[in-house]
Amino acid sequence: MNTHKMQTVENTGDGITAKEEGLSRKDVDYTEYRQLWALATSRKLLTKFPLHLDIELTNACNLRCKMCWQNSFLTYPKGVMDFELFKKVIDEGVPKGLRAIKLQSRGESMMYPNIVEAIEYAKTMGVLDIQLTTNSTYLTEQMCGRMIKSGLDMLIFSLDVGHKESFEQIYPLKSYETIIENIMNFLNIKKAGGHLHPYTRLQVLRFNGQIHPFVQKQIKRLEPYVNKVVENNLFQLVDDGPLDLEKFDLLPCSYLWQRMVINYDGKVTMCCRDYNCEHVMGDINTDSIEEVWNGDKYLNYRTLHESLARQNIRACANCEMYAKPKLQQL
Ligand SMILES: C[S@@+](CC[C@H](N)C(=O)[O-])C[C@H]1O[C@@H](n2cnc3c(N)ncnc32)[C@H](O)[C@@H]1O
Ligand code: SF4
Repeated sequence: MNTHKMQTVENTGDGITAKEEGLSRKDVDYTEYRQLWALATSRKLLTKFPLHLDIELTNACNLRCKMCWQNSFLTYPKGVMDFELFKKVIDEGVPKGLRAIKLQSRGESMMYPNIVEAIEYAKTMGVLDIQLTTNSTYLTEQMCGRMIKSGLDMLIFSLDVGHKESFEQIYPLKSYETIIENIMNFLNIKKAGGHLHPYTRLQVLRFNGQIHPFVQKQIKRLEPYVNKVVENNLFQLVDDGPLDLEKFDLLPCSYLWQRMVINYDGKVTMCCRDYNCEHVMGDINTDSIEEVWNGDKYLNYRTLHESLARQNIRACANCEMYAKPKLQQL
């Protein structure tokens, strides 16, 4: 597919008229957003503005989980996003078609002092889908109530043996059981208040295809209370080295059509896996998000992906997403 000739649309939310009886404007916008998302995922459509942004409120974290860049290769300076910069992202995005945000990339966003205000601001301004992934260590009772009322659409609890080991090493006087209690507490408060949102997800990791017995036990405990349990495969980090091209075909990655990452300092990257920002696509302190998304660098990277040459981009060379194992030679 040729990116230059690809259909582009302005995702202004007017594609679907509210003829569907009984549907609110918000329902219609959400339906349209999911339709655009499906087209972007299959790379049939490049919207003029990304449908989704990962907005990194901070790249700092209180844990050092063994599988994570925080424990190994992350050398990028630590910092937090200026709240005015956050508002600037939302203010530019929503009128141009931004529909969804995930409020983290490399760190633990519940350490951000204005986390609740950030969610409230984005919701008030019209972001349809606001997600947050957390290690749950900052989910105090007071925070549970504030998060439930904030307008957050999805809260993802990460739970892994790496989180447990790191937590118990860093907080030797506490047990990881207190974190499970934080999650249970959140779910109880939400239920007691009759709240449907945020939708909750328990996210766990498979190491070599296996779920650790500790994690299996926690799934059994929490599964009845969360909306969904998602198992993800452990991925390699960029500094672990590239994938073996004898074994894998690297297919184009949909991320470059769906979303981008605004790091805490305004630097734009394609994906959270580029944790040291080796491929900076632009800087929103000086450029608009729209300019970066439609700029030469993105165009060039999309072309590399579509011409099956993404191994030339270091951060994409070892990524298992959209990598297809080659058929074994007979
Ligand atoms: C980088 S963390 C940031 C958010 C938050 N600190 C947390 O742990 O949920 C986001 C997600 O990445 C996952 N993760 C970390 N290292 C990973 C790896 N090597 N492969 C796959 N997922 C990983 C974590 O388990 C977590 O669910
Ligand atoms: S809590 Fe999240 S960001 Fe922090 S070290 Fe663990 S996986 Fe990485």
